[in-house]
Amino acid sequence: MDKFIIEGGAKLKGKVNVSGFKNAALPIIPATLLAGDKCIIENLPLIKDVNIYKEIMASLGADVSLDDKGTMEIDTSKIKECIATSDLAGRIRGSYYLLGAALGRFKEAEVSYPGGCNIGNRPIDQHIKGFEALGAKVDIDHGIIKCKAEKLIGTKIYLDVVSVGATINIMLAAVLAEGKTVIENAAKEPHIVDVANFLNAMGADIRGAGTDVIRINGVEELKGCTYSIIPDQIEAGTYMIAAAITGGDVIIDNVIPTHLESVTAKLKEMDIIVEEYGDSIRVSAPNPLKSINVKTLPHPGFPTDLQQPMSVLLSHAEGTSIVTESVSESRFKYIDELKRMGANIKVDGRTAVIEGIGKLSGAKVSATDLRAGAALIVAGLAADGTTEVENAQHIDRGYEKIDNKLLNLGAKIKKVQE
Ligand code: EPZ
Repeated sequence: MDKFIIEGGAKLKGKVNVSGFKNAALPIIPATLLAGDKCIIENLPLIKDVNIYKEIMASLGADVSLDDKGTMEIDTSKIKECIATSDLAGRIRGSYYLLGAALGRFKEAEVSYPGGCNIGNRPIDQHIKGFEALGAKVDIDHGIIKCKAEKLIGTKIYLDVVSVGATINIMLAAVLAEGKTVIENAAKEPHIVDVANFLNAMGADIRGAGTDVIRINGVEELKGCTYSIIPDQIEAGTYMIAAAITGGDVIIDNVIPTHLESVTAKLKEMDIIVEEYGDSIRVSAPNPLKSINVKTLPHPGFPTDLQQPMSVLLSHAEGTSIVTESVSESRFKYIDELKRMGANIKVDGRTAVIEGIGKLSGAKVSATDLRAGAALIVAGLAADGTTEVENAQHIDRGYEKIDNKLLNLGAKIKKVQE
């Protein structure tokens, strides 16, 4: 097991390059199944979850390679069925995208119940509702989700909750269905648009992605394509917050600033200077920081995946801030770890009341999940003294070379094996 050791206090300065978006990569890799052809996917982040997906695809029979620039060549023509019931599939959340993709191509799939971050109850009822509406029978048996259909027929599907995963999974299943599918109350995150663009590049007919009504006209077949994944706005937001908490001055490069509008707006409210350029954002933060209130919401609201680093930043502000987590059921577990660093935060259900304390103090803490781990690194960067963040494997799942990127910005951080 690895851990990060951080000597706090260095102001981050310089330029950091943002990698491709994990949450777009995880559906796009299995979506290649739909073409049964060769695809080239560029700008993939070099992270553990992508490696796990590469192994899953290879175990299904794909010819797949990934180079050190994040380009994957994947040929799924030899895959004849999708039975992904290994531990690997059960380890990541995004393995459920195999269900939609394989239902689309083979009208049948068996996939382990998905794992991923422990951030509360994460039902998949809306995915199942969508598959069933398209004509599939779905059973969950001994931890395996089994889907089967004679044929898939397009229909109207209203999502009871705005779900990124369900919106994408239904798109995947519907692109090769007969007729027209309409997803109402769809999620609008940038990666929904990215997945739709990828599917359209393979020959699908999807309109409206990025709005809450997505229309999909089923097509007979899809073909391989070359596609480049959008930058990771959550990684970008994490570096924006890291720049601000250290009182630094950082250019975050390879971003789409419109994907970060809610983050930019909230940082500006705290008196942080955020300048947007074509494909980069500069963040500088002369202290002190103002306290603010933040509520997480589906896109274009403030992203739940940045709630933890943002709460750390608010611990450094002057005054009281209130953070409301309205997307994930249980995403405040890291606060007990932050308290070891001196944070003064009271949690009541989905609300955290944060009393700014000016400066945290370094301590031994443990990452409870991916974004919690990133938040603890952010905390360590600004804390007094040394912080050790254990369970680094959670962070490696979603942040490409976070230690190297921070080192290049002047942070004192190293990763060591325990
Ligand atoms: C995706 O999870 C991301 N994961 C999460 O990123 C992210 O936090 C989340 O979207 C919200 O943006 C991946 O892309 C692999 P949802 P997903 O379906 O698709 C409820 C990270 O740190 N819901 O949009 O699983 C659900 O309980 C991670 O990168 C149902 O009730 O999220 C939640 O409260 C962690 N029924 C809300 O909807 C369903 O069938 C949003 O979940 C599906 C979801």
